Parts: sequence; structure tokens; C-alpha cells
Amino acid sequence: MSSRVPPPSVFLEMDRAKREAKAKGLPLLDLSIGSTDLLPPRPPLEALKAALDDPLTYGYCLKSCTLAFLEAAVAWFHGRFGLELDPTSEALSLIGSQEGLAHLLLALTEPEEGLLLPEVAYPSYFGAAQVAGLKAWPIPLREDLLPDFSQIPQEALRKARVLLLNYPNNPTGRVAPRAFLEEALAFAEAQGLWLIHDNPYVDQVFFGRAESALALGGKGARVVELFSLSKSYHLAGFRLGFALGHREAIRALEAVKSAVDFNPYAGILRMGIVALQTPPGVLQGYAKTYARRAESLYEALKETLRMRPP
Ligand SMILES: Cc1ncc(COP(=O)(O)O)c(C=O)c1O
Repeated sequence: MSSRVPPPSVFLEMDRAKREAKAKGLPLLDLSIGSTDLLPPRPPLEALKAALDDPLTYGYCLKSCTLAFLEAAVAWFHGRFGLELDPTSEALSLIGSQEGLAHLLLALTEPEEGLLLPEVAYPSYFGAAQVAGLKAWPIPLREDLLPDFSQIPQEALRKARVLLLNYPNNPTGRVAPRAFLEEALAFAEAQGLWLIHDNPYVDQVFFGRAESALALGGKGARVVELFSLSKSYHLAGFRLGFALGHREAIRALEAVKSAVDFNPYAGILRMGIVALQTPPGVLQGYAKTYARRAESLYEALKETLRMRPP
């Protein structure tokens, strides 16, 4: 088997463990994957239902078929972060941000090059690095849970091609302040690295606001930012996201993907256009629900610790 085949992901392992536990009739509290249990807003679902009755949506969906979605994505980004992008050359639809990242690493790197990423990171990143033949160099975290760029070994700096960040972060929950992302942008530029910012939790912020590395870097920065409809709109199973950023990177990602897939179903793209117009108040309501749950869990864990015998 190729050395690029990663071990089964933790999510596959957990799924297997869950199946086995269910078969034994064991009671399950399922924390195996971060899939939201809230329901999507109705309007995107209605758009998808309507698309099912429109035969124009049934064929292969090439670039021109994705353009309305890409226009909606760049309009959303401009409204949110103030940077105008060209939908045809600085945006691409994805089958989720996870798919986008794995193909982007293939598009931007040569085998044996290095990927810098915080030592505590979303586990799929390590599998994606292996598929691309990259060596992952974990960056130690500071006490404030942000990576310490001064701790990266010289060899890693020599070999690295990409810096991969993710804020708001899974699993730490850390939201990066603007000053940190500016530091990361300056570091990436000084080292000649691509900066990939995986930003699927842009709406899951309890205090303050999520930043965009792409918007902070500005037009032409060697940055690609990945967004997802899985988390903000509870549409994980529909597999829709988008990449925004540097046109060379987007062109290379598009070329890799064109050898692998034909974009999402046109009806799912129509669903995405409507989802991106969800009023901010609705999204804040979801975040409040999560904040309340986090608070309850925190209190329950504190209580458990208090009751633990010394
Ligand atoms: C940091 C991070 N990136 C990407 C993903 C996957 O997103 P998508 O459903 O868009 O592939 C997840 C899902 O949990 C995640 O936590």
C-alpha cells in the first residue's frame, strides 16, 4: 500500500466503535463527531426542494453552473469582512472545507515539503498532509493556546511550504485576535509560505468576533480561506463549502479538483445561495444556544470535580 495512505481517521474509528456498542445494546452518549443537532433554517431547505422539481439542475455542474453560488459567497464575504473578490478567479465551490483542504495541499505543494500547523489541531489535517506526501511539523502552543512561531525548528522552516491555521479553533475553542493573525500573516510572508486559514466556525463565537486572515492580508496576499456551510447553517450532510483567496492557488485547486470531482449538485448550490442570506440574528441565536450548552457542561463538570473524593 502507498505510504500516502493515512491510518483510518478518528471519525471512522469512532463510527466503528459506535456500531459495535450499539450491536451490544450498550447505552450511548454520542460525542464521536462535531455534527450539529440543530435544524437548518427553512429557506435553504425550501430552495433545495424546489430545485428537485427543476430538470435544469439534474446534469453535471461545471464552473459556469457554480457562478451564482460563487457570487453569493463573495458578496457574503464582502458584507462580512469588507474585502471585494472576483467570483470567477478568487473563489471556488467545495464539497466541504475538509475536501477543499486536502486538495489544496496537493495543489500547492510537492511531496516531501513541510506543513506547519499548531500541535493541537483538527485530526483530519494530519491525514490530508500524509495524502499529499507532506511532513507535518506541529508548532508548540503558548499558554494562551496560540502557536509560538519562535519554537519552530530551522529544518521545519527550511522545508515548509504551507502554514495551516484554524480560528475559531477546533478543538481548543480559541478565537484568534486580529493581532495574532497579523503576526501569522507577517510570519508566512517572511518565510515565503502559503497561509491556509480553515474558517468553518466563523459564526460559532460566543464573545467578540471571528476574524478573516484573508481580509486582513488584503488583495493579492498568499492566503486561501476555507468556509463551510456545515456549521453555520447545520447542513453538514449536504457537503458544501467554498474557498476564497489568491487567484493562483484557486486556479491550481480548481485544476486538481477538475481531475477528481464535478462540483456539488446544482440544487445544493441554490440551497447554499439562500443559506448565505440567513439574517445575522438567526446565526447569533444558534451561537447563544451553544453558549448556554457550554455553560451547562462547564457547571456540571465543576460539580463532578467538587464531588470527587479527595
Ligand atoms: C476545523 C474543521 N475543519 C473542517 C471541518 C469539516 O468541515 P466540512 O464539513 O466543511 O468539510 C471540521 C468539522 O468538524 C472542522 O472542525
